[in-house]
Amino acid sequence: MLVHLNGSHVSRMDARIDPFDRGFIFGDGVYEGLRAFRGCVRSIDRHTRRLRESLASARIDFDADRLGPLSESLLRANGLTDAFIYWQFTRGTPAPGQPVRARVPDALAPTVFGYAMERPPLERCVEPGTTTAAVVEDLRWKRGRVKAISLLGNIMGAMEAKDRGAEDAIFVSPGRSGTMTDGLVGEASATNVLLALPGPGGTPRLVTPDLDSVSILAGVTRDLLLEHQADIEERPVTVDELRRANEIMLCGTNTMVASVLTLDGRPVGDGRVGPVARRLAKSLVEIIGAELDARVAV
Ligand SMILES: Cc1ncc(COP(=O)(O)O)c(C=O)c1O
Repeated sequence: MLVHLNGSHVSRMDARIDPFDRGFIFGDGVYEGLRAFRGCVRSIDRHTRRLRESLASARIDFDADRLGPLSESLLRANGLTDAFIYWQFTRGTPAPGQPVRARVPDALAPTVFGYAMERPPLERCVEPGTTTAAVVEDLRWKRGRVKAISLLGNIMGAMEAKDRGAEDAIFVSPGRSGTMTDGLVGEASATNVLLALPGPGGTPRLVTPDLDSVSILAGVTRDLLLEHQADIEERPVTVDELRRANEIMLCGTNTMVASVLTLDGRPVGDGRVGPVARRLAKSLVEIIGAELDARVAV
């Protein structure tokens, strides 16, 4: 595997990062996770925009417009067409003699690291994945829009879920009452959440937490689904609705669409992949397929 490190492609074993790098010492950096199909990076504009916002929030000096060209070059160097691509931008490494624990250091050159790993082709993503989840109180930070590399809060939540026999956490924040009784649903540890609620005449009502009520990431996959599926409502979603949902779905760049089959050990709906999950997974594959076709046509 060839990884990207500060402008060069090197084998993973030869990639050397200084242990005083701020990413290693402080978790001081931001990242992006992208997906390529048929050799093209999908939704590059959305990822570039989000990276630009994360870099600006963290005040890390890197030109986000380089994300696309760097990703394509990494794909080609590894001979990959269908892959997950990860990029990490840390504040950099203080030179010898510079303070190593300054919370706000003098300007440093960022450390840029990227890797690409083979993932299934688009056609295989039409079948939703499956997982199980546990409700976990959201004790993470309040800047969920920033795609920070410091994911300890997410990891601790996922570990708590695992201790309770589930594969993932669905984070819930205290609601208006200040307790979890009217708690608000946020996201899972690496994905956004969508629910199919029982609707009038048996038609499911699709909802996803809005970005103002809870501190969550503006997922690119969530955005794509919202833009193309007119029937998804963005609004505060309560833990009570989560527990009553006929289907719970997770979506993300790596996961695509997955069905949550049990919540806190109890089956969600009939405990199988439901029709809404199938529809969303198919729709996502179509949305991405159309984007790739349009690019080839240019
Ligand atoms: C906490 C969290 N929420 C949501 C997502 C989904 O975002 P995207 O669809 O951009 O991959 C991710 C992806 O890494 C994530 O880490």
